[in-house]
Amino acid sequence: MTRSAGSNPAARLAPAAMSNVKMKTGQFRRMSRFVGPARESSCAPSQVVSQYVRMSPRAECHGKAGLQRLPDLGPLDPSPVTTLTPVVRTVILCTMTLLSEPRFALCVVALCAAACARPAPTATTDVSEGPVNIAHRGASAYAPEHTLPAYRQAIEMGADFVEQDLQLTRDGVLICMHDTTLNRTTNVEEVFPDRATEVERRGARVQVWRVADFTLDEIKTLDAGSWFDEEFVGTRVPTFQEAIDLVKGQAGLYPETKAPEEYEALGFTMEEELAKVLAANALDTPAEQSETPIYVQSFSPESLKRMYALTRDTYDLVQLVGGAQAATLLTDDGLREVAEYADGIGPAVQLIADEPSRAVVARGLGLEIHPYTVRASRLPDGFSDTGAYMRYLFDDLGATGVFTDNPDLFPR
Ligand code: G3P
Ligand code: CA
Repeated sequence: MTRSAGSNPAARLAPAAMSNVKMKTGQFRRMSRFVGPARESSCAPSQVVSQYVRMSPRAECHGKAGLQRLPDLGPLDPSPVTTLTPVVRTVILCTMTLLSEPRFALCVVALCAAACARPAPTATTDVSEGPVNIAHRGASAYAPEHTLPAYRQAIEMGADFVEQDLQLTRDGVLICMHDTTLNRTTNVEEVFPDRATEVERRGARVQVWRVADFTLDEIKTLDAGSWFDEEFVGTRVPTFQEAIDLVKGQAGLYPETKAPEEYEALGFTMEEELAKVLAANALDTPAEQSETPIYVQSFSPESLKRMYALTRDTYDLVQLVGGAQAATLLTDDGLREVAEYADGIGPAVQLIADEPSRAVVARGLGLEIHPYTVRASRLPDGFSDTGAYMRYLFDDLGATGVFTDNPDLFPR
């Protein structure tokens, strides 16, 4: 499919506008489908390759001290030296330097040692072609959100990623649930009528059953399916581990740290728990991530910064942006700051539909754009076809993926 630079504001970006962004050392990423219309017009292998750009090492292009513009994204015609592995390339360069400048011998030996060390794992969410299909809470239009049936259907429907919103139980286990409370999606009120907490909501006192007040064993007694349809009676709340067991190797994972500050007040560091579970499943390794790519998302910049501090480049990070956050996070300065710790933004879809220039700036900084949430049951005025609406998000607004309750309607 050919994109028109004229209709796509992001397509008009000059590559030189990209700078000061979080990037992966020596990694080929699908940098942009919008670097220039010429690259969109053919599927010839050489031109497909030209959609990729080898990233500069973080030391060179990330952080205030090392800002550097990305190289020009003209058609790649890699020289023999640039196509060698980093280790081989370093050895050749070391040898040449040793021969011509013996006084640098010590320095060169140190460089070789560094180059031969095991490289840090890097996220591999760049493996798929084109925009990514993210099943929002699973295939949540067809099965109860955040249950194994919803995740299974998402995989069957061809989702590239299955999303998990994460909460922590009283005994510190990560479970998949959108709300911090159990009452909307389980029968907790019937099973534990005396365990509610009273809180104030919109000026009224209401009873809630907080996830953090229940152990995993208690939560596992709850029915998380019958609220949706009797077909799902008896469906249980899955742990994050159970979600991994189901999804791993079949699609990517897209966990979200939900309300991390609330759990911190209770003595948990959600990012540590998340990193622990992912590592226990070897998902911190490039080998596993090549089969199961991972994005970690949060509305909380602090949470993503903590995740980045803990795991560096191991996972791609996505800054979610709700309506109230747009005034700070989607400004030019806000996006520049996001690009220092994250790889993408996940804005409420209306935010970029109302102001496409925000998407242009984000793409210029090399950020992925995964808007949420497209639902067949709630399309905006002017659209009656879900696939066509998603296509509009990709082609006209520069989105590189989409959260959807209807992964089966994703346009391929
Ligand atoms: O995480 C993307 C989208 O799911 C954000 O909204 O409230 O459904 O988690 P929410
Ligand atoms: Ca979410």
